[in-house]
Order: sequence, then C-alpha cells, then structure tokens
Amino acid sequence: MGFDEMDVDTIWMDGEFVPWEDAQIHVLTHGLHYGTGVFEGARCYDTEEGPALFRWDEHVERLFQSAKPYEMEIAHSHEELTDATLELIRRQNVESCYIRPIAFYGYDSLGVSPRDCPTRTAIAVWPWGAYLGEEALEEGIEVMVSSWRKHSSSQVPTNAKTTGLYVNSLLAGEEARRYGYAEAIVLNKEGNVAEGPGENLFLVRDGDIYTPGLSESILDGITRDTVITLARDLGYDVYDSVSLSRGELNTADELFFTGSAAEVTPIRQVDNVEIGSGSRGPVTEAIQQRFFEVVERRTDEYDEWFTYV
Ligand SMILES: Cc1ncc(COP(=O)(O)O)c(C=O)c1O
Repeated sequence: MGFDEMDVDTIWMDGEFVPWEDAQIHVLTHGLHYGTGVFEGARCYDTEEGPALFRWDEHVERLFQSAKPYEMEIAHSHEELTDATLELIRRQNVESCYIRPIAFYGYDSLGVSPRDCPTRTAIAVWPWGAYLGEEALEEGIEVMVSSWRKHSSSQVPTNAKTTGLYVNSLLAGEEARRYGYAEAIVLNKEGNVAEGPGENLFLVRDGDIYTPGLSESILDGITRDTVITLARDLGYDVYDSVSLSRGELNTADELFFTGSAAEVTPIRQVDNVEIGSGSRGPVTEAIQQRFFEVVERRTDEYDEWFTYV
C-alpha cells in the first residue's frame, strides 16, 4: 500500500506539524549522500486501554544512543519527541500504527565531514499491519541464509540504528525474495548467526531458548529484550549471549524472528531444511501468544512498557 492511499496527512518536522506533501528536503542533503541518519521503528497498539505506544522510552533512548558515534546533536528533547508523536497520532485518528522517528544530517556542504550540516529531525506515523503478513504469524516463514555477511561491529557501530547500514539489509532481503523466500538470515563476519535484515533471531532447543549475544554484530532489539523478559517470566531458560553456528539453525527445534515490525514471527524452513515439524512450534506459540496478550493489554502486567495516547 502506498502512502497516498493512507489516511495520514501530517508529518512532524523540526518542531512543526507540516502537511505530508510539504515534508521535503534538499537533494544535497548529507544523509542522502552518505547514509548519515539514525532512526527508529516503534508501534502504537490499539489496546484495551486505548491506543498506547509500546516501549516508546526505550526507542527514543536508542535513537539518542545511535546518534552518539556520529556526534549528531538531536535538537529536540526526549519529551518533545514524545509529545510530537502523541499529537501526530491524536490528530490523525490512527488507533494502531507504526512510528518512524528519524534524525539526519541535512543540507550545508557535501564533504564527508558533516560538521556544518544541521541535524534535521522528523517523525511520521502510519497504519501498518503484520510486517511479513498475517499468515506468517501463524504458519511461519521460509528464510534463506544470505550470501551477504553482516558488517562487523569493528567496521561500523552495528548497535546504532543507522540509515546507511540498511543497504546490507536490503541486499540480503531482496536476494532471499528473488529466490522465493520471505526473508533472510544474515551471518556475521565470523560466520556465526547474526540476525535478520530487520529482525533478531531466536532458537529453541530442548525447551531452552537461545539468541545471539550483542557482540555478534546485531542490533540490540527492543522486541528481543521484551521476548527475553516474557520468556523468563514464563519460566523458560533464556541464553542471550551465545554464538550460534549456521549448522545449529538446521537442527533447531524451533526458530523465530522478533522485531517491532515483525513482532514474533515463526520460521518454518531455512534454505532447504524444514525446522522442527515445519510449522510454528509450541514454545514459539506460547511466546507469541504472551507477546500479543501483553501488547494488546489483555493483561495488566508490564504497564510500565506503555505510553498512552
Ligand atoms: C537489523 C535489525 N535487527 C533487529 C531489529 C529488531 O529491533 P527492535 O525489536 O528494536 O525493533 C531491527 C528492527 O529495528 C533491525 O533493523
């Protein structure tokens, strides 16, 4: 679905609410040429208590953290970004939506150094359903181990959600789709499992849960953290700083992706190998159910994760 078919007409940009079509930037914007932007992807859920941002403070915090290695000064406070987002949602009457804050180096000069470039900031919200499709949540998806490796954390800060780094995600994801798969799994430079193009990865073996550690060149996913917390609270043992070899994907009982966009998506096949029974496994299902119960506020636990609109 294109944006022009959606019922959203306002973007917050550098402190102002502007009509969607006026949210424009110059073609010589630094961020366009060198990928010098940092961004977030968060969700607002239509909960039993009304629309609520899920783990918003952690998203804003990660945005500010992502800006640090680039010495980017975001000219708006955490609170301003929150107020702008809440107001965008209220003005446009969207009950559930995806939220995309971005900060980037703007137009001044086109040397690689962004020193004189202003930092621009924008926030957009729009309705967005299941990232990999509703069916994917139930049936699971088929994924391909990409021939592209993830950039190493010694080459770029992989824990900063930086616009330019997503060319790697695009290459891996599009390669997978070209071969008929829904998504990719990307190995890191050492050949261990890193993550998906826009998802963290979890593996279930003998009832225990494993996920690659932060030193495996992954993004420190907020859904990853949510799932670790929920799984432990459900009584599972979760090992969250492991290295996983490619071969362990094939022998896993269950695999699933997590992400603000992908939520909790089961993986039923990797390359030519069926995972477990070839459908959503019982541990994945238990965690997925708990996840949706929590984000839709069908339980009053974890109230601290919500910012109500
Ligand atoms: C590369 C990558 N890994 C993992 C994730 C999952 O992170 P989160 O759960 O914070 O959305 C994302 C999505 O933001 C991502 O782009």
